[in-house]
Amino acid sequence: MTTKPSITAKYLPSTRSVHAGEKRVKPVNSLVDPVFQTSSYTFENMAAVVAYQEAHNRGHVADEFEYGRYGNPTIAAAEARIAALEHTETAILAASGMAALAYTFIQYLPGGSHIIITNDSYRRTRQLVEDHLKKYNVTCTVVPFGDFSALEAAIRPETRILFSETPSNPYLRVLDVERFAEIGRRHGLLTVLDCTFSTPINLTPLDYGIDVVIHSATKYLGGHNDLLAGVIAGSHKVVDPIRGCIGILGGISDPNTAYLLLRGLKTLGLRVQQQNHTAQQVAEFLANHPAVERVWYPGLANHPGHEIAAKQMKGFGGVLSLTVKGGRQGSFQFIDALEIPFISASLGGTESLVLHVAAQAYSDLNPEQCLKEGIPQNLVRLAIGIEDAEDLIADLNQALNSIQS
Ligand SMILES: Cc1ncc(COP(=O)(O)O)c(C=O)c1O
Repeated sequence: MTTKPSITAKYLPSTRSVHAGEKRVKPVNSLVDPVFQTSSYTFENMAAVVAYQEAHNRGHVADEFEYGRYGNPTIAAAEARIAALEHTETAILAASGMAALAYTFIQYLPGGSHIIITNDSYRRTRQLVEDHLKKYNVTCTVVPFGDFSALEAAIRPETRILFSETPSNPYLRVLDVERFAEIGRRHGLLTVLDCTFSTPINLTPLDYGIDVVIHSATKYLGGHNDLLAGVIAGSHKVVDPIRGCIGILGGISDPNTAYLLLRGLKTLGLRVQQQNHTAQQVAEFLANHPAVERVWYPGLANHPGHEIAAKQMKGFGGVLSLTVKGGRQGSFQFIDALEIPFISASLGGTESLVLHVAAQAYSDLNPEQCLKEGIPQNLVRLAIGIEDAEDLIADLNQALNSIQS
């Protein structure tokens, strides 16, 4: 059987989205990776058992399977596609983005260790490291985003991980990834980046020396608001121990989710390029609208992370945040008047979504507590879908004009 080499980084985004990491010859010559709906695998005889176990004990075996908690061919196909998109050796598909973060932290943060995390990140991630890991005697220091002096000053002998998002949630701050990786390397620390907002179309951080890339694949990678999944990508040396940990703790994904993800990934390049383009137009429109106080989008020249984003990213992404004049009431009126975006907590899919940050993501805090977290009552996050920019802009315009003071 002849096999052509698999599609690699030399190809452009849409070619890679469709073909990266795939096997040219799939089971029964199927064009598409099939769904292997099985919980276990069989062996022809004991010699095959012994051969499998011996190979398995030497390290991860890519194409042979024993039991569903340790691997599945449909999941493996999705993992291979994502690893290739991230320019790295291997990837794990976890049950959700939070599961991907939790397993990475559990594996690499022993009791008594310390993690440093930049502020302005997904609130549940901060709750995981600040509140939950405390139960296992893991401590955490939160440093201001982009303050590398504070980051280095926070490093202690027991520090194990430097963690950040890029761009961050909800203010789209952009990390200097090369500098972050260099600090991690110099201090012998694991660098972990949540790149949900950037996607491997806009940024491949492992090229800059980052150790682990995390995604909520629920967002852009899946891309259709119909699945929950997480990704952990990196070298075999770093990621295989996490795979072993998940094999014991059990929070795996499933073959139907992996199939949907493989299907969604085929349009990743197309979707993200359109979302980059539309978000830029929307951000420029909003920045000039009299009912808008401020817009945060890395593609705007006055955004604090614009310069570094322009240097290290191939596109500025599909999420932006804005504050609307008229406080909480004005922002509610604006959201209620929108006809196209749904009010919803997610992002990265085909449908545009709008989120009132204080009322949805911080609903348990009062306005003063929200402000302490940097969240005013008129902050709105807009996740651009793949609808036409002209339609979205017209809708945003009518919704902003409907605000009554
Ligand atoms: C940046 C970021 N990381 C992680 C997560 C968690 O992902 P999941 O919802 O798939 O667990 C989210 C979810 O919104 C997110 O925005």
